Amino acid sequence: MAQNSSDIELVMLTIDDYEEVVQLYGEQYLKRNPLAKVCKETTLKDQGESQVKDIKRTLDSGLSIGVRDKTTKVLVGLRLSAIFHVDKTSTCYVGDENEPSKTYRVLARYSPFGKEIKDLGVTTVLELYAVCVHKDYCRRGIAAMIIKVIVHVNISQLSN
Ligand SMILES: CC(C)(COP(=O)(O)OP(=O)(O)OC[C@H]1O[C@@H](n2cnc3c(N)ncnc32)[C@H](O)[C@@H]1OP(=O)(O)O)[C@@H](O)C(=O)NCCC(=O)NCCS
Repeated sequence: MAQNSSDIELVMLTIDDYEEVVQLYGEQYLKRNPLAKVCKETTLKDQGESQVKDIKRTLDSGLSIGVRDKTTKVLVGLRLSAIFHVDKTSTCYVGDENEPSKTYRVLARYSPFGKEIKDLGVTTVLELYAVCVHKDYCRRGIAAMIIKVIVHVNISQLSN
């Protein structure tokens, strides 16, 4: 088991990492995530084709981070994310059921003043699709660290 943060390294995930990402996501996210368990969607097959598409979308975004063990190079953590742009489809409450639309509707639903997100003129949203850390590497601040890294990358990308 890894003992401290000096034995891991952060890498940018790309589509070349797809197989490894799917393996970690299947074993350490779907089988442990409370919502996936409650919904009985604990394998990639249960989640359907859209899940495969979504994972590939996050790997193509340039905003997904992986955590590798420095010695073995095995992928032990991941942060899958992507940017989506709010458009007419995203704000439409019926019809299109793609993931960004659903994410937007959840944000709009839970914003303090109902339509606040729309009223503020938000046009770009960072979608945090999944965070997962292998159980042998948990409780060392890795998840917190990779979330912060993503936010930093996102802000610099947005200002370009
Ligand atoms: C949730 C998960 C990503 C946490 O990874 P991690 O690297 O252990 O998290 P961190 O060490 O950065 O912990 C940050 C904080 O999260 C909370 N936390 C983490 N694991 C927790 C647990 N099992 N129970 C309660 N709180 C927990 C704690 O507040 C922790 O702070 P602390 O160390 O001061 O107690 C990891 O357990 C995991 O992969 N779970 C399965 C997938 C999942 O459910 N992902 C989240 C939904 S996207």
